Amino acid sequence: MSIKVQVTNLNKNFGTNHVLKNVNLTVQSNEVVVIIGPSGSGKSTFLRTLNRLEDPTSGNIVIDGTDIAQPNANINQVRENVGMVFQHFNLFNNLSVAQNIMLAPQELKNLDEQKAAAQAHHLLKMVGLEEKFAAPIQSLSGGQQQRVAIARALAMNPDLMLFDEPTSALDPEMVGDVLQVMKKLAQQGMTMIVVTHEMGFAKEVADRVLFFDDGQILEEGTPTAIFDHPQNPRLQEFLNKVLNV
Ligand SMILES: Nc1ncnc2c1ncn2[C@@H]1O[C@H](COP(=O)(O)OP(=O)(O)O)[C@@H](O)[C@H]1O
Ligand SMILES: [Mg+2]
Repeated sequence: MSIKVQVTNLNKNFGTNHVLKNVNLTVQSNEVVVIIGPSGSGKSTFLRTLNRLEDPTSGNIVIDGTDIAQPNANINQVRENVGMVFQHFNLFNNLSVAQNIMLAPQELKNLDEQKAAAQAHHLLKMVGLEEKFAAPIQSLSGGQQQRVAIARALAMNPDLMLFDEPTSALDPEMVGDVLQVMKKLAQQGMTMIVVTHEMGFAKEVADRVLFFDDGQILEEGTPTAIFDHPQNPRLQEFLNKVLNV
């Protein structure tokens, strides 16, 4: 096993709002980490610091041996290596499905059009949307658009994927297909950090679950430990609310 991500004493302030409080986390290569926790606890901010969409206030974020928290870190390289999928897919509505996937590799990696198209075809097959290659984005359902967003992120060949509540804006019948793609990715060995409240997914796919509360990791463990034997009262309370038991 090798270490993919090592976060040390990470802090993030928005003005006087201390959002991340000395977060420490080590993620191994090929590990799937699921983050749960109440709204406003800093989950999104944490993911966003991992690819420098937010600048950390202090601390270290070492990914593949490079501290990306340093002010002089090569942000473009960070973004190439770390793919991110958001709740709202942020696709280009004026482009086709394939064009959305081909854009970044062509512009940032100088991939020629033929190779980019072949790669888009391959990725669309992986996410089960082969037949949508030339379709306009608007003709796709939310679940299909989210799978295109995953394919787009994968087109840069990232070695770490971050997912921020990828299914929470979807109609319930769309959720399964997206989780299925994420599960496949995990089985292929992708290192993944996933914010989600899909407990079934967490139980089946996660190696480790982290409970975020008030900018800190209050508890972490295997899915069984976290869901069946939660220790911290705040985690117990949270699970009672989320699982409606
Ligand atoms: N860009 C921002 N500017 C100011 N405050 C922010 C910003 N992004 C997040 N916050 C604040 O940080 C806290 C954590 O937010 P967030 O990371 O989105 O939590 P979560 O994803 O767990 O719901 C909240 O108090 C939120 O208002
Ligand atoms: Mg969030």
